[in-house]
This record gives sequence, C-alpha cells and structure tokens, in this order.
Amino acid sequence: MAESLLEDEPMKIRELFGHFEEYGWETPSWEIAAKVGLPVSMVVRLDTNTSPFRPESALRDLGLALGGLEVNEYPDTSYLALREALSGYTGKGLERFVVTNGADEGLDIATKVFIDPGDEVVIPTPTYAMYGITSSIMGASVVSVPRRRDFGLDVEAILAAVTGKTKVIFLCNPNNPTGDCAPTEEVERLATESGVAVVIDEAYFEYCGKSTIDLSDRLENIIVCRTLSKAFSMAGVRIGYLVAGAETVSKLNAVRPPNSLSVVSLFLGKAALAHRDEMERNVRSTVEEREKLLHRLRGINGIEPYPSQTNFILFRVVDGDADALHARLMSKGLVLRNLSKRKGVENCLRTTVSTPEINERLAGELESALARRPER
Ligand SMILES: Cc1ncc(COP(=O)(O)O)c(C=O)c1O
Repeated sequence: MAESLLEDEPMKIRELFGHFEEYGWETPSWEIAAKVGLPVSMVVRLDTNTSPFRPESALRDLGLALGGLEVNEYPDTSYLALREALSGYTGKGLERFVVTNGADEGLDIATKVFIDPGDEVVIPTPTYAMYGITSSIMGASVVSVPRRRDFGLDVEAILAAVTGKTKVIFLCNPNNPTGDCAPTEEVERLATESGVAVVIDEAYFEYCGKSTIDLSDRLENIIVCRTLSKAFSMAGVRIGYLVAGAETVSKLNAVRPPNSLSVVSLFLGKAALAHRDEMERNVRSTVEEREKLLHRLRGINGIEPYPSQTNFILFRVVDGDADALHARLMSKGLVLRNLSKRKGVENCLRTTVSTPEINERLAGELESALARRPER
C-alpha cells in the first residue's frame, strides 16, 4: 500500500536540488590507500589545511579530567566557560561571541539570519566553497566577483555587484585557496560603503597575524568567523566562533542550535585556549616551514608557487598537467587538493605545510615527477 502511494505521489524535496553545487567530500584515507595499493599509514593528507601537531597539553588535561566529565548532562548551552576563554584570547566582551560547531556552522548560522529566498550574496572567487553552498541552501543567488590577477580583492567590482537584493558579502581573509590577505582598510570600505552584512572568515588568521576583528567593535554589519580547527590543531574537535557587535550576536544566537557542541569538545577547546603558548609555538614553526617549502618549490622547474600568509601553499603547474601530477603524487601517498578546474586557479594544486620530513618528501616527489615528465 505504502509503495503504491509513493509511486503515485513521489516524496517532494526542495526545488533547490539540482540548482546548487554540493560540497565535494574529501575521499577517506582508507579508500585512497586501497585505490593506490599503499598501507593507510603511508597516506598523508595535505589537502585539508590541518595542523601536523597534536594539541598535546589539551589532550593531557582531558585525560586527567575525563572520568569526571558530566557527559550524562547537556552542556551549558550558553557555553560560558568557552566564551570566557575566547574573551581572554581576543580581548572582546562575553556578549560578543557565538560559539559554533566549527566555522562551518558559524557560516550556516550567519546565512540563516540574513538570507531570505531570492536574496543575493556577493562572493569574491576563487574561495572557500561553503559560502556559496550554505547561501544557496537558504535560497540565495550567488554573485561571484573574480579576484584580481594577483588574487587581491577587486573592491570596486564587489561594490558594483551589490544590489538592493544583496544581503551578505563573504570574504575569506586570508583567502583559501590563494593564501593572500586583504588589508583591513579594504574590508572596512566594503562594510561601510555596502551597508550589508560582511562575513569575514578568518580561519587562517593566526598564520598571518592580521585580523579585522576590531572593526566589529564599531561596525554592526561586521561578522568575523573563526575556528580552532587550524592553528589550534583541533579540526576533529569541531569548535568555531563568530565575533560581532552585541546586537548582531543576539540575532545570531537566536537561530543557533542549542547543543551542537559536546561536553568533551567544550573541555578541549577551553584547554587549548589556556595553552595558547603551545599554539603560538606551532604556528611559528609552520610559518618557518612555509617559507622554507616556498623557497624549495620555487627551485623546482615546471611549477610556480604563490606566496602565502596561511598554512598552505598554492602552486600552478606551468609546464604539464596538474591532474596528472595530482594523480602521481597520490600514487605515492601524498594527497594534495586538486584545483585544476577551478576558475581563477586553473592547473593549480594546493598543499598543506606539514612537518619538515613530509615537506621534504613532497618536494622530492615533485622533483622526480617533473624531471621524469615524458615531454621534457
Ligand atoms: C576558509 C575556511 N573556513 C572554514 C573552514 C572550516 O572550518 P571548521 O573546521 O572550523 O568548520 C575551512 C576548512 O578548511 C576553511 O578553509
């Protein structure tokens, strides 16, 4: 009976399906290992811009506290303890934070506050895919504005793209995948002249040392989105936060799910913020390694790396095929992000800056791959 009912009247899903590009999930390491015939221990993820360091001190604290954690209860859904730690980290008041399950949930929450079906969002591209995805799911049309040839923001073109229907401008700063960081003055100009919400994703700001967070002290349309996934080595813990003016925060809080962080992740987040010196040491080390890797990549024929203010490096394959190079590196267990078909970064690959050993393994494989190309 139920079957025939379904046949007559198929389940209705939203019309948006087929009109938006879904997130391309990363292939799991075990699947890559099986495909290329390597043990999974040989597979190194250089495609997700995570830290090669474990948050040792926070994990040690968790080990000591684990037995006493009240996981039978819901977390304090005001996330007060974590907001206190974030306040200590950023210097902003407790009323200025929305704690989220990773930056991705922060982006999702922001779109829920600002976007009605039929609205528009403006996104300088190439950039992180989730801005377009979450906005499309809310029913917005995405207006992409190409970044300049040097990857900088085309401020005039972004402002020209803002219409009466525009509700949000998304900025990734520093930008993934290009690695560059826009000056704060440009962000301020976009916020003041457009008047719409400007969501600034600062997932990688610790690696560049510059932030636009202070703009949110005086501009209510600035929303800064951050994460502990990168510099704090906690991608698997899932903690992010939004920083905005108090009024904007109350709207953001109104649509946030009450319990999206676990008691365990809240503990780890607070511990990581308490051991900030460890994060700062790790960031210094990654920045040093980034400059060494950049220098090394500049010495390899056939690729052109771009400078970076993040924990990853984008490089263009100028002599050969990025897809073939990507496949070859993967066959050696090195998984890079393939951007070869992405507008603005055609024939480019992106690699995470890792440990000296892994960076050297990558550089060595690149050298031998490019030297062995048949057309040379
Ligand atoms: C620019 C940018 N924003 C947000 C995220 C996701 O962060 P989270 O792990 O906090 O959801 C990423 C992850 O790669 C990213 O590159």
